[in-house]
Amino acid sequence: MSNGINTLPLPGEAQNQKRELGQFLTPAPIADFMASFFSTPKSEWRILDAGAGAGALASALARKLCTATHPPDSIRITAYEIDPSMVPLLRRAYAQLQRDCQSVGTAFSATILNTDFIECATEAISRGLFSSDTDRFNAAILNPPYRKINSGSRARKLLRIAGIETSNLYTAFLALASQLLSKSGELVAITPRSFCNGPYFRPFRRLFLESMRLQRIHVFDSRSAAFSRDAVLQENVIIHAIRSKNVPRQLIVSSSSGTPGAPVRFRKCKYCEVVSPNDPNAFIHLVTDDNELSVRHQITGLSTSLPDLMLTVSTGRVVDFRASEFLRMRRGADTAPLLRPCHFNGPVIEWPRSNERKPCAISVVDRTRRLLVPRGYYVLVKRFSAKEEKRRIVACVYDPTRIQSESVGIENHLNYFHTNGKGIDRNVAKGLAAYLNSTFVDQYFRHFSGHTQVNATDLRSIPYPDRTTLESLGAKLSDQYITQLDLDELVRSEVF
Ligand SMILES: C[S@@+](CC[C@H](N)C(=O)[O-])C[C@H]1O[C@@H](n2cnc3c(N)ncnc32)[C@H](O)[C@@H]1O
Repeated sequence: MSNGINTLPLPGEAQNQKRELGQFLTPAPIADFMASFFSTPKSEWRILDAGAGAGALASALARKLCTATHPPDSIRITAYEIDPSMVPLLRRAYAQLQRDCQSVGTAFSATILNTDFIECATEAISRGLFSSDTDRFNAAILNPPYRKINSGSRARKLLRIAGIETSNLYTAFLALASQLLSKSGELVAITPRSFCNGPYFRPFRRLFLESMRLQRIHVFDSRSAAFSRDAVLQENVIIHAIRSKNVPRQLIVSSSSGTPGAPVRFRKCKYCEVVSPNDPNAFIHLVTDDNELSVRHQITGLSTSLPDLMLTVSTGRVVDFRASEFLRMRRGADTAPLLRPCHFNGPVIEWPRSNERKPCAISVVDRTRRLLVPRGYYVLVKRFSAKEEKRRIVACVYDPTRIQSESVGIENHLNYFHTNGKGIDRNVAKGLAAYLNSTFVDQYFRHFSGHTQVNATDLRSIPYPDRTTLESLGAKLSDQYITQLDLDELVRSEVF
């Protein structure tokens, strides 16, 4: 440690591809924007930057502190970065910060840990290495790597030992960073929005919300804003939270286009509007304007759940590669229709299509019977909406009078509503599909989901109209295509 900047070289096996490491560096305007979220003055800053890359984040924060009217007494940065090729960049960034701090009389030190943050942080937490609050960080700023953690991996085991159950690196980083903070320590992180509702993120949400008080969540309007992390364009959010067990009464949801310098809209929300105290899944709903809030109130005003309607939603049971030996390109005497997203045609299922590219039938034999559902009305919902689709939730009714078959196969890219594995009443099915296809439900869904995937858990979490309302809505619909405007008007008059 010659100049206050310490580099601790550790295992060098991390020479993976940059992409493997989730190396999406934060552009300077976003880093400055994130630094502006820190709101609690401190005389001594102990900053954690986990997955530090070239050091953009802690640098932005330290620069903001040094240029304030009253610069702090000291700034200490601890940067974890697994990629050795980033270390010289980090050293350079921190050398500059040291000069900036010196010029305003702020003591500066930085420690670069060229190692795996998961390994180090889980060990520190499991062994209780941070005994007192003064050993802990009082600020963390992160843009964590985004990658799945395999269930049998060492990282997953270490996390489990530290009491953290999560399957993505980014939520692992968030959970670990939050546990390394002192009481009232602040965390600002830019992450994908998927943690707000994904079923796999439920244990993370509960853990995080129990120990961190959300102060502000910033939403970028555009899906490609900031940066896109993988092939599935994900919305990014910036969260600001403070280590505390107290549940906040309110928080700020802000939004902007994502273009540097674009105006930022602020909205004060009641905490219960963002995380409902009755929601066992602890979904995080992000309502950014009055219109969205009124839709949220309309939908949450409906108090019927799927169990109340005696309905269940499941994911289609036919997985192509597992059932390949039973799949057929054409229907035959011993087959059942195999329904896929491509069979959606407005409000009805069109099966078979004239130009099927994938198998559209499944042979009915003992080994496939458990994959099939009996003849009946079902509401099908695409699990992945295509980019060109205006709505995230796309629903359609399977009408057994249009397709003669005693059983039906539903492919795994579809969710389906049923009653105990059997069909549902015709008008309830039509009313349910209309409700799901309405703009109201689409807007409500977007408050808690930032991606194009629609999970069965998401569909379970939506409030529904009661059975009589669904029946009467369904009775008003024919099989003819109706415009979105007309559908919304009908749903408005029947449901709200
Ligand atoms: C999304 S980048 C962000 C970099 C930087 N914080 C920024 O905002 O520009 C994530 C960084 O985490 C690093 N990283 C990935 N896995 C890591 C691990 N297990 N421990 C420490 N760093 C890791 C990557 O090499 C990459 O530089």
